[in-house]
Amino acid sequence: MSGAANGPVLSTAGITMIFGGLTALSDVNFEVDRGSITALIGPNGAGKTTLFNCLTGIYRPSRGTMTFSPEEGREIQLRKLAPDRITYLGIARTFQNIRLFNNLTVLENVLIACHSRMKAGILGALLRDRRTVQEERSMAEFSYRLLDRYGLGPSANHVAKNLPYGAQRRLEIVRALATRPSLLLLDEPAAGLNIAETRELDDLIRYIRDQEKLSILLIEHDMSLVMSVSDRVHVLDYGVLIASAPPEEIRRDPKVIKAYLGED
Ligand SMILES: Nc1ncnc2c1ncn2[C@@H]1O[C@H](COP(=O)(O)OP(=O)(O)O)[C@@H](O)[C@H]1O
Ligand SMILES: [Mg+2]
Repeated sequence: MSGAANGPVLSTAGITMIFGGLTALSDVNFEVDRGSITALIGPNGAGKTTLFNCLTGIYRPSRGTMTFSPEEGREIQLRKLAPDRITYLGIARTFQNIRLFNNLTVLENVLIACHSRMKAGILGALLRDRRTVQEERSMAEFSYRLLDRYGLGPSANHVAKNLPYGAQRRLEIVRALATRPSLLLLDEPAAGLNIAETRELDDLIRYIRDQEKLSILLIEHDMSLVMSVSDRVHVLDYGVLIASAPPEEIRRDPKVIKAYLGED
């Protein structure tokens, strides 16, 4: 799928985020092509997670616009929207530090994420009318299918905290998918994974893009993973976007090499 033909799924213009005296993001302009896997890299403290927090409504940028296009011909301004609204519109994320409901089961973790899509609302849930019961049943079926597809079916009734670390990371991704996003934001999904698990993640990221037909924006430190899966790479350094190019160009870019190796 080529992104250029049908416009980007996401574009930002002039995103600036100031915390007190610190400019965490400075005039950031970038795009995510529809159907692409796009990486966002940069040294620690560069502003990558801050950018995710702006996109998902956790922070409101000091300046700039963020335009989300869940499908061709539809454009949504994200800047003033609340996080749950942004999830509902189709942007899902995972966190750098795993955030699961540790004492709930794997299935319950996914069901809670599904609720962002439920129509019945709180009154339906209290009255338990027929529509609500049907909706809950179809949500449970959808959750089981999703867990099966991502290899977590056999663990559906296990308590989340008892899963091996790699499976917890996978469950985080499944929870994000349960909100049926058209754009998935992954914040360092390989953090803490061993070499074999990182290789699996490489396949998993492509599989998600193709199977769920969505676009992926990936923050990642593992350069072999970034170089292998990404269609395009954006590089942040001290809140400034210093390069945007295909991975083979990024690898050779003197500005990028300098940002990673430091000034000396
Ligand atoms: N809520 C906040 N208040 C103040 N400073 C923050 C806040 N969030 C992030 N920062 C600062 O913004 C900079 C970028 O942080 P972050 O986006 O987490 O970087 P990265 O994810 O690239 O490692 C850091 O200097 C960090 O300390
Ligand atoms: Mg971060």
